[in-house]
Amino acid sequence: MDGLFEQIEVAKAFLEPYKADACTLGIILGTGLGTLTKDMKIHHRIPYHEIPHFPVSTVESHAGELLFATLNNVPVIALAGRFHYYEGYSAQELTFPIRVLKSLGVQTLLISNAAGSTRADLEAGDLVLIKDHINLHPDNPLRGRNDDRLGLRFPDMMHAYAPRLRSMAKELGKDLDIELKEGVYVGLQGPNLETPAEYNFINIIGGDLVGMSTVPEVLVARHANMEVLAISVVSNKCFPIESLTETTLEEVIEVVEKASIKLTKLVFNLVNKLM
Ligand code: HPA
Repeated sequence: MDGLFEQIEVAKAFLEPYKADACTLGIILGTGLGTLTKDMKIHHRIPYHEIPHFPVSTVESHAGELLFATLNNVPVIALAGRFHYYEGYSAQELTFPIRVLKSLGVQTLLISNAAGSTRADLEAGDLVLIKDHINLHPDNPLRGRNDDRLGLRFPDMMHAYAPRLRSMAKELGKDLDIELKEGVYVGLQGPNLETPAEYNFINIIGGDLVGMSTVPEVLVARHANMEVLAISVVSNKCFPIESLTETTLEEVIEVVEKASIKLTKLVFNLVNKLM
C-alpha cells in the first residue's frame, strides 16, 4: 500500500486541475460556518467520495465536499464536512484533507467548531478565539514513522494558534462590533458529552472550552507548517456545574444559528485582510 505521502500526491494530482487561482487560504466549515457557502462564488464542488484516499463520511447528512471558491474576491479551498474521531476514523485518516489542502498550496487555515464552555464568563452564543489547546484525544495523527517531507518529527506547539491572526481577528471584531473572547480548547474524543465532574476537571486543568474536533486538525496543520486561526461557537454553558441543565438539541441549534450570523460576517471580512 502507498504511504501517506504518496496518497497525498495522488489526491493532489486529482484536484489540481480544478484549481484556477493560486490559493493559500483553506477553511474548514465547521459548526457556525455552514452558511458561509452562501457568500461564496463556488467554481467547483468535488464530493469527497470522488477524491482518491479521502475518508468517506459515514453519515449521509455530512456527505462532504471540497469546494474551490472565491469568498469576498479571495480564492479559498473549503472543506464542507469534516470527520471526527468518534465516527471511527483514526486521527491520521480524519486529518488527510488537511494534508491535501497543504499540498494544493494552502498556508493559512481557518477553523470553526461548536464547544461547551467551562469558564464562568463564557455564555452560550459567544464567539471565542482559541488561543491554545489541551489535547486529551486518545490518538495522535502524527503517531508513527515521521515523513520528513511532510513535517518535523517533533513539531513545536508554542504558537499553535497564530498570534498574528488572532490580533487581526480581534481588531476586525472591534470594527464590526462583534465581541470575540479568547480561551483554551480542550479536545476530547466524544461522542458523549461530559459529566459534571468532567466539566469541573476541564476547568481545573485550565480549559475554557471543550469539544470533539479541531485538535487533530491543528496538530497536522502545524506539522505541515500552516498558520491556524480557530474560532469556537459556545453551544452550551457547562460551568459552573451548578448552572448545568439538560439542553435539547433544538436549543443548541438555535443558539448556534444566531451566533453563526456574527461568525460568518467576521470571516467574510477577515479573508480580505489575511491575503
Ligand atoms: N462537550 C463536548 N463537545 C461539545 C460540547 C460539550 O459540552 N458542546 C459542543 N461540543
